Amino acid sequence: MSSENDKSILRLESIKKVFFPGTMDEVAAINDLNFVVNPMDFVTIIGSNGAGKSTLLNLVAGMYPPEKGGKIIIRGKNVTRLKEYKRAAFTGRVWQDPSVGTAKNLTIEENLSLAYSRGKCRMLRNAINKSRREHFCKALEPLGLGLEYRLNAQVGTLSGGQRQALSLVMSTISKPAILLLDEHIAALDPTTAQTVMKLTTDVVNREKITTMMVTHDMEVALAVGNRLIMMHKGNIILDLDAKAKNSLTIPDLISEFEKACGTTFADDKVLLKDTKEGKTNANVPGDCAVA
Ligand SMILES: Nc1ncnc2c1ncn2[C@@H]1O[C@H](COP(=O)(O)OP(=O)(O)OP(=O)(O)O)[C@@H](O)[C@H]1O
Ligand SMILES: [Mg+2]
Repeated sequence: MSSENDKSILRLESIKKVFFPGTMDEVAAINDLNFVVNPMDFVTIIGSNGAGKSTLLNLVAGMYPPEKGGKIIIRGKNVTRLKEYKRAAFTGRVWQDPSVGTAKNLTIEENLSLAYSRGKCRMLRNAINKSRREHFCKALEPLGLGLEYRLNAQVGTLSGGQRQALSLVMSTISKPAILLLDEHIAALDPTTAQTVMKLTTDVVNREKITTMMVTHDMEVALAVGNRLIMMHKGNIILDLDAKAKNSLTIPDLISEFEKACGTTFADDKVLLKDTKEGKTNANVPGDCAVA
């Protein structure tokens, strides 16, 4: 497709990723994957451990390149060989570990300033001024955590939930083409996870940001977003639109998985947790507070 006619946000063409090629430890983490994300899609991604979910997000973020012949196109621009720090102008990211996305020895406003300048090659000292500070306060306000009154607080003094909420603001402050969330609520306690999930859907809806979110929680995967993909052994084995997704239950999803890949879901402890235990820690958005 010519780039003028390509209205997609993300287009992956023939993407493969092999770790330790040609050795005994060779792993084909992504197998010849083709995938298109459209504007305003909110894609939830599930799959067993080692399915290739994080590798997929890492490839989009530019952490490493795909094998030769693969193409990564963001908003019509071929970014396949664009280094991660330059690609950060297109992507926002929140990791599972709250300490990864933020710098604990810097203040809230310094962290935001770095995030704002990402991909723009600006010096930190040039980045903070009155209007920038007002912009940061405006971005923090909707969190409802009062962080806008603590711009000079060191990030190391914040709780895990507060840091993850800040990471979310940092990753969206420059309105990325695509927001990449890799199990970003998994390390939080259930109440905080629920709050951060709600903050996520709020910011995504408010700023109209196209999003890909990996989660091990099938209930969240079904409840959130307009599209769900399931991965297995480096392939996308299921791609459901909103209508298909809304009519499914967790047991349906498990049975779809088993039909699509011919193995039971039982290997994956994490995914089974939700179904076996009758689901006690749903992290779907509701009224809640950050711990
Ligand atoms: N940097 C790496 N070096 C070597 N092998 C890797 C690397 N990253 C991932 N792999 C391997 O690639 C495969 C896919 O890993 P990936 O982390 O993408 O899975 P995942 O679906 O995110 O799993 P999980 O649910 O456990 O996070 C696994 O076999 C993993 O061991
Ligand atoms: Mg992973």
